[in-house]
Amino acid sequence: MSEKLNEIKTGVVGVGHMGKYHVNVLAGLNSSTHQLIGIYDVNKDNAQKISEQYKVKNYESLSQLLDDCDAVTIAVPTEHHYKIAIEAINHGCHVLIEKPVTPKIEEAIELIELAKKKKKILQIGHVERFNGAVIEVQKIVDNPIYIETKRIAPFSPRIQDAGVVLDMLIHDLDIVLNLVKSPVKDYYAVGQSLKGKHEDIAVVTLKFENNTMASLMASRVSQAKERKLFITQEKSYIILNYANQDIEIHKNASSANITMPDEIRYSQESYVENLFVHKDNPLKSEHIHFHKCIMGEADPIVSNEKDLETLRIALASIEMIKKR
Ligand SMILES: NC(=O)c1ccc[n+]([C@@H]2O[C@H](COP(=O)([O-])OP(=O)(O)OC[C@H]3O[C@@H](n4cnc5c(N)ncnc54)[C@H](O)[C@@H]3O)[C@@H](O)[C@H]2O)c1
Repeated sequence: MSEKLNEIKTGVVGVGHMGKYHVNVLAGLNSSTHQLIGIYDVNKDNAQKISEQYKVKNYESLSQLLDDCDAVTIAVPTEHHYKIAIEAINHGCHVLIEKPVTPKIEEAIELIELAKKKKKILQIGHVERFNGAVIEVQKIVDNPIYIETKRIAPFSPRIQDAGVVLDMLIHDLDIVLNLVKSPVKDYYAVGQSLKGKHEDIAVVTLKFENNTMASLMASRVSQAKERKLFITQEKSYIILNYANQDIEIHKNASSANITMPDEIRYSQESYVENLFVHKDNPLKSEHIHFHKCIMGEADPIVSNEKDLETLRIALASIEMIKKR
């Protein structure tokens, strides 16, 4: 797709909460074919701190960083994604951009078209795609009947610019849309705002043309933290725990009522298999994949068209929630 590079010089734009994780991973990936060369952030004090910590150049301006880079990771607040990504691609950079790609579908379409025209990789930071358990589960999912996801966390006042759909649920939407090999037929969303103007709890249900059903629930007002995915198939029930990258497969379930002299006992049995998962840091795997795509050694695991569908359904779900 893109011109052949022997070495990728990379930078990070925005080194706040998420950006500093990217810097940490990229600094650890430094090698003869890959170098983290610098960062840029409008918050000069924070940028200086990160630059000293990781011994990378703190650029004075975005365009100076882009001039020196082959690829950049964009981890600024979502409302600034579009402008910075357009500038980066026009500067000739490949772009790894945090999710959600943009807050507006038109902006995402324009970005994707520009990246195609300029032959640049545009990878969206859906980091759960690189969770070892998600990679493994794709090998055993075959014609799911029903998929359920649950992503809950306690309230954090840090995220004010987006609701729970773009903040959290979009991760599961991305995973489910890529697990089910059939177009979406219909979907429906409900939700509630409890702490501010955006929804804090949401449920999105989907029906696919092959009859698979899915129910995705996310909450950022729960008294626990959990990220799980449950898949009902004809001959197995799969429980995936994103947090510890574990997969349990339940099979051959049977149940019986046992009549005792003074009580009736219910017995339920199933054979449970714990699948071996190669566990690595998903953010590191995300960057390795991005680099391989730039080097022409791999094709993107998810197409930009699929990214667009994920964003379209997420944004439409938010509109449904607002109307009800
Ligand atoms: N993949 C995930 O799981 C995940 C998790 C959290 C956040 N995110 C995404 O990451 C992005 C950043 O979120 P965050 O929580 O790190 O935000 P943040 O506010 O902690 O950090 C953003 C940083 O960008 C800087 N910045 C703002 N405008 C800028 C500009 N024009 N140029 C350069 N720097 C600028 C800010 O000074 C700040 O340091 C968002 O799009 C968010 O949705 C993704």
